[in-house]
Amino acid sequence: MAETDETDEISSAPGSILPAHIAVVMDGNGRWAQRRGLARAEGHAHGAIAARRIVEYCYQQNIPYLTLFAFSSENWNRPQQEVALLMELFTERLQAETAGMVERKISLRVVGSRSRFPQALLERIEAVELATAGGTHLSLQVAADYGGRWDIVEAARQLASKAAAGELEPSTITEQSFCDGLALSPAPDPDLLIRTGGESRVSNFLLWQLAYAELYFTELCWPDFDADEFQLALNWFAARSRRFGLIDDLESSAPAEPE
Ligand code: IPE
Ligand code: IPE
Ligand code: MG
Repeated sequence: MAETDETDEISSAPGSILPAHIAVVMDGNGRWAQRRGLARAEGHAHGAIAARRIVEYCYQQNIPYLTLFAFSSENWNRPQQEVALLMELFTERLQAETAGMVERKISLRVVGSRSRFPQALLERIEAVELATAGGTHLSLQVAADYGGRWDIVEAARQLASKAAAGELEPSTITEQSFCDGLALSPAPDPDLLIRTGGESRVSNFLLWQLAYAELYFTELCWPDFDADEFQLALNWFAARSRRFGLIDDLESSAPAEPE
């Protein structure tokens, strides 16, 4: 993320409430391209530029965690040519961005199964994760070959293995110990989910971790997501009343003092 020429400056409004963790379903690359009479590949290439931009926005705003949904468990079922193109694009972008991320103290983790990635991509992921591991300014997770159901099954499998080996008493399993086995751990749950592309669904993204996230949907296709749109999403988030099952004004609801 070394260059800043493709990005606009983001200025945080004084006193605004910022999310600590933003998760993004970067949807609409194909439609963005098709509407312009371009190949879907062009949409993905522009989507990669938009991904770079949102990393920059979060970096500028000191938002500590960002998780980008790049490729779902189900996306393997797309035409083989599109899958191959996405794998190549991912490999190429990781290579191009590594030095900039190291320089700017951005740590990158790829979360997902990895079992079906081409060897060149696997090697690139391992190299980037190693190179950026010390990054403390922004923790960036890229979800690829990721599915929320896969994530939950993996966490369950880990606990079951320990229990079968006699290392874990099942009755001691808690929400927290389960959560520790999920792919985003130790990142906190996302506060804000942004989905572009006009669909109001989560498409098997962070099924556990989105329990109390604020869900922001926009019609805009991902390649068009810019600084103004990011600011709109942040403003929308800042205006939410997050109750987590409680009620807004505890004082007014307290039982009246006896006269
Ligand atoms: C999101 O854009 C990128 C990936 C899922 C890899 P799409 O490719 O889903 O674009 P649309 O939804 O078909 O427009
Ligand atoms: C979700 O988009 C996955 C990513 C953005 C990586 P999809 O395009 O795969 O979702 P659906 O098929 O519209 O639900
Ligand atoms: Mg889509």
